[in-house]
Amino acid sequence: MKKITIVGAGRVGETVAQILAEEELCREVALLDVREDVPEGVALDIFQTSPFFHFDTRVTGSNDPAVMVGSDIIVVTAGFPRKPGMSRSDVLEANLGIIDEVCDNAVKFAPDAMMIVVSNPVDVLTYRAAERTGWGRQRVFGQAGVLDSSRMAGFIATETGFSSRDITTIVLGGHGDTMVPLPRYCTINGIPVSHFIDAERLEQIIERTRSGGAEILALRKTSSAYDAPGAAVAAMIDAISHNRRRIMPCVALLEGEYGESDIAMGVPCILCEDGIEGVVELDLDEKERRMFDESVAYIRGDLGKMKEILK
Ligand code: 2OP
Repeated sequence: MKKITIVGAGRVGETVAQILAEEELCREVALLDVREDVPEGVALDIFQTSPFFHFDTRVTGSNDPAVMVGSDIIVVTAGFPRKPGMSRSDVLEANLGIIDEVCDNAVKFAPDAMMIVVSNPVDVLTYRAAERTGWGRQRVFGQAGVLDSSRMAGFIATETGFSSRDITTIVLGGHGDTMVPLPRYCTINGIPVSHFIDAERLEQIIERTRSGGAEILALRKTSSAYDAPGAAVAAMIDAISHNRRRIMPCVALLEGEYGESDIAMGVPCILCEDGIEGVVELDLDEKERRMFDESVAYIRGDLGKMKEILK
């Protein structure tokens, strides 16, 4: 990849930029932010790690949206973060204006790019970004489930004492209290997780996963999580830039899959160099389907709020 622009040089944006640069996933990482001087400062700081990490990726910062020119991917992390006690939906109104502006600039300056939405509420903002750019679901999708799955894997690793490298987890649905962790599809080196963890304990891990973002926000106090969110975005970009065809849970527009359409939410997707190649439809049992439906209802509620705001 030639260039990736990260909109928002806050903590998540900065973390993504550092990993992309370090792993040389593109030749240039551009940070775009409305705050004067900040993106340049972040870019300089990251580039000055290059002798330690042995990379020569160019890292630049700018306030000018024209910096998007030539980008293969635009990562959107810009937006008002939630404060402790707030839900992701509480920042919807503030962040809708931002996503529209970013989309308009992307269409103008990088019409062939892909867009990965990270800002919250990510399900609704991904839907809005797809609508505003008109780029379609292959090119516009969001990050949520990769992070939620990594949180669940972390909790399972801590619980069992096994290597997190061997743990495969999958979390679908909306990024919030209604997310849908699927323990039935979670394994430790191929062995179902239920072999090691009893049902009651697993249920506690699921609950902790659901509130994983809020737990970190409450502990950090002045910031949401950013290390794992940044790493999750970088993992998606790694799959895209190497055309790995990895199956990763992404926020994707549904076109009839899981019986839903006109909604964006977390589902397993095949990620390749062109973005989302397809959505994998899993068989959900009754309980899983109920959780999935609750997630659909919650996101549709937020989509309704979005439509009211945009009126
Ligand atoms: C999280 O889950 C802020 O949504 C982000 O940490």
